[in-house]
Amino acid sequence: MKTSRLCVQPSTPPSLLAGQVVAEAEDLVGQLTAEGHLPADAAKRRTREIRAELDATGTYRQSSEELCLGARIAWRNNPQCIGKFYWKGLETRDCRDVGAGGGDESALFEALVDHLRLAWNGGRVRMLLSVFAPSRPDRPGPRVWNGQLIRYAGYRQHDGSVVGDPETVDLTEAVLRLGWRGRGTEYDVLPLVIQWPGREPRWFDLPPDAVPEVRISHPDYPWFERLGLRWHAFPTISNQVLELGGLRYPLAPFSAWYTCTEIGARNLSDTNRYDKLPQIAKGMGLDTGRDRTLWRDRALLELTSAVLHSYDQAGVSVIDHHFATKQFVRHEEREHKNGRGCPADWSAIVPATSGSTTPIWQRRYEPTRTLPNFSPQPVPWPTGGTEG
Ligand code: ARG
Repeated sequence: MKTSRLCVQPSTPPSLLAGQVVAEAEDLVGQLTAEGHLPADAAKRRTREIRAELDATGTYRQSSEELCLGARIAWRNNPQCIGKFYWKGLETRDCRDVGAGGGDESALFEALVDHLRLAWNGGRVRMLLSVFAPSRPDRPGPRVWNGQLIRYAGYRQHDGSVVGDPETVDLTEAVLRLGWRGRGTEYDVLPLVIQWPGREPRWFDLPPDAVPEVRISHPDYPWFERLGLRWHAFPTISNQVLELGGLRYPLAPFSAWYTCTEIGARNLSDTNRYDKLPQIAKGMGLDTGRDRTLWRDRALLELTSAVLHSYDQAGVSVIDHHFATKQFVRHEEREHKNGRGCPADWSAIVPATSGSTTPIWQRRYEPTRTLPNFSPQPVPWPTGGTEG
């Protein structure tokens, strides 16, 4: 089977040249055909149709099937993700007509809240993608400013320290400038900021039932709960553009379940994030005066196991990094069997702890970028730069 020949640099500009749109569209039809979703004669017909629509209107509308199957391939092509074993299970909601005409931010907000409720699914988190209006030559599609639909504010203090999540200080400042006021706690959920190009952004606070969270406790340390740690139940990446068949969908939020290390060994522990290891080590009675006591390593392990324990107790889907990496290797083998490569960025898929105990440690990957794909895009608020 053939894979896409088209390579891209991340953050392709929103308006493509007509020739590139045709090439990408034909490439997508070709891939869907090669993977058995379209008979050859239907593919020819579809290609002619797309060309005619492009000639007449400068853009084209993808069928729901092209959108849904194409999004799965985009995920499969993404080199940053360790969860691709499940690529065939990605569900896509077609929200292309929501707020059609470009004026109605509240309709978009409602659809995003629905997305969160559907993805949450009572704790059995679903892999869910919602695709909103694509960019057109005369008008880019809508964006949300948030890197994820659910994220905590980060308030920069006068002394340079941050209350909340340091990852979001720029976004938080931009949202404060719009007139939003948070409570100033460590875990204030940011409002969604929705913007149609050419219009003022509008912010909306999420209703509490759309923001499930998990309080972190430890299976053996009763004091752990008193640290007051928590995290949102699942991630929903909302700042990547879906690049599919010559179209660009700048608002395509993607939910899936967490791997425990993302929370325990990154979000709550990185020194430039919540930086909780010193408190945990103190609780464990470790000597934090010297690195050589390995207090960070021991605290990190207990935090990660607390995350697993807490999500399990709360009945929220979460996987551990051993299982995740084993599934990735199975995915890789399956891809090879189907005549495809498995693009991956090793540094992105190796878990943040215990990397060498997992089967991907010894393996090497090519981070090739092929289309379709999900890519980063510049932050939409006035300042420039990109958010990590
Ligand atoms: N690492 C990001 C976070 O901690 C989420 C990235 C996507 N992860 C996922 N399991 N789908 O929020």
